[in-house]
Parts: sequence; C-alpha cells; structure tokens
Amino acid sequence: MMLCCPICGKQLNRAAGSFLCPQGHSFDVARQGYVNLLTVSRKHSLHPGDTRVQVLSRREFLEGGYYAPIAEALIHEARSLSLSGELLDIGCGEGYYAARVGQALNMAVTGLDISKEAVRCAAGKYKNALWLCATAAHIPVESESVDLVTSLFALTLPEEFHRVLKPGGYVFQVLAAQDHLLGLKKIIYDHLEFKEKDSIPALPGFQRVKSLSIRFSFTVEGQQVRNLFSMTPHVFRVSRAGAERLEQTEILTDTASCVLNVFRRL
Ligand SMILES: C[S@@+](CC[C@H](N)C(=O)[O-])C[C@H]1O[C@@H](n2cnc3c(N)ncnc32)[C@H](O)[C@@H]1O
Ligand SMILES: [Zn+2]
Repeated sequence: MMLCCPICGKQLNRAAGSFLCPQGHSFDVARQGYVNLLTVSRKHSLHPGDTRVQVLSRREFLEGGYYAPIAEALIHEARSLSLSGELLDIGCGEGYYAARVGQALNMAVTGLDISKEAVRCAAGKYKNALWLCATAAHIPVESESVDLVTSLFALTLPEEFHRVLKPGGYVFQVLAAQDHLLGLKKIIYDHLEFKEKDSIPALPGFQRVKSLSIRFSFTVEGQQVRNLFSMTPHVFRVSRAGAERLEQTEILTDTASCVLNVFRRL
C-alpha cells in the first residue's frame, strides 16, 4: 500500500527518516515513529481529535481487557472471511484494535487518526505498523490498495473508504448501540433521552454482508471508572453535578452494547 502526498496527491517514497514525493514535499517520521500527513489547511483546529487525557484514559481502559470481546469479534469475522493483505484502521486511537486484528490475521497494519496524541501513543507501543496523523476526509493512501478498512467507534466516510479499498474489499464498522453504557449514563445524566439511533446505516457503494450485535457486561473500579468516562463523548456533555456523581462512583457494572456491520465494496 503506497502513501500519497497530502499536498499534491503523488506517491510518497520512504527515504531514511522521511517520506518524499516527486514534487519535493517531505514529511518526517517523528521520533516516536508516526508520520504527520495532516496539512494545516485540513486541520481546522490547533489540536484536532482526541486529547492526550482521552488517549491515555482509553489506553489504560483498553489495556484492562474490558473490551476484549470487541477485538475478538473483529478477529473472528476477519478469519471467517479469510482476510489478508492491508488493514487500514480509521480513527485508530491508541491502536489497540488494529494491532490485535493485524497480528491475528497477519495483515500489514496502517492506523490513521487526526489526533497527534493518539498516533504518538499508538506508535510508542505498536512498532509493527505504520501510524499516520491525517484526516479520514482525505485518506493519504493510493486508490484500490486496501483489503480491510475498520472504523471502530469512529467516523465513516463511504466515498473515501470506497476509493481506497480494492474491489471486493471489506469495511468493518463498529457503532455504539442505543443501550451502550446505560449504567454510566444513568449516573451522569438526570434524565435519559432516547433518541432514535441508526446502528445499521446503509453505505453507498457497498453491500451489507451482515450486522452482529456485540453485548457483554463488565465491572470497573476506581480509576478505571474515570478512564471509561473520559474516553466517551459524555465527558464534554455532562453537568458539573453529573461529573461529581461519577467522581464518587467507586465501582460500576455496565453493559457494552455495539453493532459490528460488515460491508463489501462493490
Ligand atoms: C471514539 S475514538 C475511537 C478510537 C478507537 N477506534 C477505539 O475504538 O479505541 C474516535 C477517534 O477518531 C478520531 N477522529 C476524529 N475525527 C477524525 C478525522 N476527521 N479523521 C481521523 N480521525 C478522527 C479521534 O481523534 C479519536 O481518536
Ligand atoms: Zn507532493
């Protein structure tokens, strides 16, 4: 899988500690091992994407193994389709899922995230992969070069996914279901509003192969309660009182509930 220059679109070639395009645009591989391909014009804010605190909370929570059933479901589905070749994880965060799926299936892994903190954290731990700071809206990867795109609790951009995938390639999309982390929500919100949520959206240019429900309960204690909270979008939405109630919660048994949608590129 070749990378493309985010400025002129031409192929990038690796030369020692950087990636170079024929037009002379150059992108350094950071000391931590990731490549920054996010141009200023596509940044939209100074530090886009997840913050360092969110990234580190997610790292500590996922390392606790609470969401291992999600990684196992991804691996199981990838095996049942006999997938191999190039895996591209969009909104990869700190790299937990991409590293595990890649290793289990022996696939070449590229993780992409708009958060520099996320890819820095991923590159620090998982050396056997390529980590890109870039936007999913303009994936700096040549067309029809990827076998599997994963988007896990992250954004889905059908046109770009279609462009980078080989014909017949797959998208694995994991979306939170309506009842995901209901226990946490009951603590932090005074009233729970149930908005209709489409967990099985159609993806233009793709055929939906299957949708699986992944549902399991788990118990977190102490700092892991805080980690779970701070890796969710709720951390930006709750009232002060809600955040304080969470702060005082020492143990939480909750249910993770999500949907794994498998799409095949037409
Ligand atoms: C909820 S987190 C999920 C992280 C990871 N997939 C996981 O499940 O552990 C969503 C991720 O998407 C990233 N993100 C947000 N907007 C993005 C964009 N336009 N392009 C690429 N990544 C983006 C965030 O920085 C964050 O790491
Ligand atoms: Zn260029």
